[in-house]
Amino acid sequence: MRVLVAEDDDVGRIVISKLLSRWGHEVILAEDGERAWRLFQENPARIVITDWSMPKLSGLELCELIRTHKFPHYVYIIILTSREGKESTVEALGAGADDYMNKPINSPELNARLRVGLRIIQLEEDHQQAKIHLLQSEKMASVGQLAAGVAHEINNPTGFVSSNLKTLGDYFDDLSRLLEHYKKLAGLVQEFPPPLPNSLEKTLSDIAQFESQIDLEYILGDTGELIQDCREGTERIKKIVNDLKDFAHPDEDEIKPADINQGLESTLNVVWNEIKYKAEVEKDLGDLPLVECYPHRLNQVFMNILVNAAQSIEDKGEIKIQTRAEGSHVVIKIQDNGKGISEAHLAKIYDPFFTTKEVGKGTGLGLNMAYNIITNHGGTIKAESTVRKGTTFTIRIPVNQDKNSS
Ligand SMILES: Nc1ncnc2c1ncn2[C@@H]1O[C@H](COP(=O)(O)OP(=O)(O)O)[C@@H](O)[C@H]1O
Ligand SMILES: [Mg+2]
Repeated sequence: MRVLVAEDDDVGRIVISKLLSRWGHEVILAEDGERAWRLFQENPARIVITDWSMPKLSGLELCELIRTHKFPHYVYIIILTSREGKESTVEALGAGADDYMNKPINSPELNARLRVGLRIIQLEEDHQQAKIHLLQSEKMASVGQLAAGVAHEINNPTGFVSSNLKTLGDYFDDLSRLLEHYKKLAGLVQEFPPPLPNSLEKTLSDIAQFESQIDLEYILGDTGELIQDCREGTERIKKIVNDLKDFAHPDEDEIKPADINQGLESTLNVVWNEIKYKAEVEKDLGDLPLVECYPHRLNQVFMNILVNAAQSIEDKGEIKIQTRAEGSHVVIKIQDNGKGISEAHLAKIYDPFFTTKEVGKGTGLGLNMAYNIITNHGGTIKAESTVRKGTTFTIRIPVNQDKNSS
């Protein structure tokens, strides 16, 4: 935990700093209140231990400053003083301190009081995580419901268009065959020795003229193909609708054996529109055992990573998807040759709300969600990246979930 220590007494400051480092904290030292405030603004600590009487800015003033400014996290403040008496305690707590400790410092006492602070910080973090989780699941549930609803609505008309096209195809075959008979008849009539009756002559020449006007040969060849194309189109719609249903089923939230490759394929279909103008997709899907998992949640992970990959590509690039079975795990790699992630950012990509995208495009929740889902499956997610070269996400998940439940 990052702890800021503000203390003008050199010996006192060094003693506290040594204790904190020994307990594994990251320590920032300030020898007066003003410097402490500056350091704090640059890099807000989660815990502040401050002496009461200091030059330039007192501990109480520092406390009040911290409390009147908004920081993303709660700051736990402990005031140190040699003042005795209830009034001083009341004054310190009144200024916004959480705790109050008399000097000289007693190491077990400081440790115990710090742990109180850590508990409160932990509570705040749990609360924050729960809020994010709720936000995400609400969003996913509504997107899921919407998608499943739309899929259902599209299914119906696609069904009858597809079945009508089949009938239309059959009718057309019959009509073409009938036409063949008529053509044969016209040929036979023309072979009669002249003169043919006038009306017959006229009808035959009208037919011949109309045939060439509409280019009958071409129509006969093309119509069959048109109908076939339409049927392929409806098959594609059906497939997308199915993928969408698979993908977004809001109540499909139970653990079951799933085919990861198929999950990737259907996710890819669902986000195809985001990807197709940006990247060629190369798939190298190995033989995988069925994986015990929450398939719907894993699809969300694939979607977030695939969309990020597409968004990282400026003009036109490539996304490679590879899956492998490795012992008791499956490994999924998603690689792009987009703009990459700097080292400083790489440490933060899983933080909730961390985004480098413009407002409206990024929420900074995608990878946080991915991280939570994968760790809940007892798996790991790892990113390697080189700026301007690209990024590879590697996900490992256990095939069996016996030891993981949630
Ligand atoms: N494939 C990638 N290439 C480059 N940057 C990425 C990639 N994936 C994630 N990032 C970085 O990580 C940040 C967080 O990603 P994410 O949690 O999905 O949020 P969002 O996409 O809403 O910004 C992104 O804003 C981006 O800076
Ligand atoms: Mg994203």
